[in-house]
Amino acid sequence: MAAPDASGKTTSDIDWATEFDHTNPEYGARAPEIWEELRERCPVAHSEAFGGTWLPVRHEDVAAIAADTDHFTSRGVVVSPERPGDSAPVGEAPPITSDPPFHAVARRLLLPGFTPKSITPWESSTREICNDLIDEILEGVDGKTGDERIVDAAQQYAQHIPVMVIADMLGVPKEDGDIFRGFIHRIIENPSLDDERPEEESLDFYLDNVIHEHAEATTKRGDLIDYMLELELDGQKLQPEHVRGTVALLLIAGIDTTWSAIGASLWHLAGHDDDRRRLVAEPELMDNAVEEFLRFYAPVTMARLVAQEVEVGGCPMKPEDWVLLPFPAANRDPEVFERADEFVIDRARNRHSAFGLGIHRCIGSNLARMELRIALEEWLKRVPEFGLVAPDTTRWSAGQIRGPRELPVRLA
Ligand code: HEM
Repeated sequence: MAAPDASGKTTSDIDWATEFDHTNPEYGARAPEIWEELRERCPVAHSEAFGGTWLPVRHEDVAAIAADTDHFTSRGVVVSPERPGDSAPVGEAPPITSDPPFHAVARRLLLPGFTPKSITPWESSTREICNDLIDEILEGVDGKTGDERIVDAAQQYAQHIPVMVIADMLGVPKEDGDIFRGFIHRIIENPSLDDERPEEESLDFYLDNVIHEHAEATTKRGDLIDYMLELELDGQKLQPEHVRGTVALLLIAGIDTTWSAIGASLWHLAGHDDDRRRLVAEPELMDNAVEEFLRFYAPVTMARLVAQEVEVGGCPMKPEDWVLLPFPAANRDPEVFERADEFVIDRARNRHSAFGLGIHRCIGSNLARMELRIALEEWLKRVPEFGLVAPDTTRWSAGQIRGPRELPVRLA
């Protein structure tokens, strides 16, 4: 029998149309099946979780909500029991928590740091990071056989890559990876946890220190924190809370998301010998494969708060209700994609919404694509043969960022 969830219900008797909770581990494990079931019988689900939360699953509804900044606000993008306070126009983590018109201003400031031209120089260090991690993994299994050649592709590989890359780009120590993941765990994966840690262990405290060090340094390193400190708006340097909020966003937005995308892609390749061998034999397929990994295993569901009464799919939404925007569910809508529920490694036309829809579309998409491509290229060059240990040994995260958090694979 399935294990009870936090409310005491067993997995088999949850009605996902009226009782869903996206932080339930079963949702993490079975999300694609749940979206499919809902799409057929109730395309906008509702539950009382978190004081009232909606879950649209059709592409049409997700796109309409993402485009409607009059009725929906980004003041809160991570569902929690409390509603975040109003710190407009800057918001807590500009631009993702900013609404128009300030959103466009905050977004424009950041864009130059993430163009394809700004990302290319980070390719070679990303390859080096991947190869150092693979060296360590292979050294650990050298001379071993059978089950002793099992490694965790999420814990030993995927999770480290985006942390190290963004740490270098921001100009903070790579060695602080565990600290960053701790912040993310508290902010994104477990927003309901009461955080009673001392102030000195908070993300704000950590960032205030590193930003202060950058501001005081006599020699500038030209990293993203230096860039933020140089920016001006209407002839004035940015407010300290704007700099801190954006640095926090860059740290948080790029880590769990890309780690999940790399992990889910390796999970797929471990379980599908045909796709893996084809990608090894035809590396020119990689760009198409990356887009299909992003479509099929899109990791990010963002949220909005209802700002004014509105109806979506016949459902009346009230101010301060939460609305989840499951871009991954939109990516599997058969109204928009042919063979939507199949992974097609060479899919040619692929207008997926893994990076969001509307004005908040991901700023880091060039960086994320580069990291995913290089992580897979380097892994497949050195570990072309590997497989899943057993399907139920993979642990998928619950919550708004979905990806394997434990992914044991057996190396050939
Ligand atoms: C596979 C990896 C990634 C995925 C799937 C992803 C997905 C998304 C999505 C869906 C949004 C829209 C949020 C919304 O509508 O509220 C978003 C926004 C954003 N992402 Fe990403 N992201 C990824 C990696 C990154 C990276 C590496 C960075 C930079 C370090 C980044 C920075 C941002 C920023 C700054 C925004 C806010 C844009 C705005 O509000 O205008 N993301 N991302």
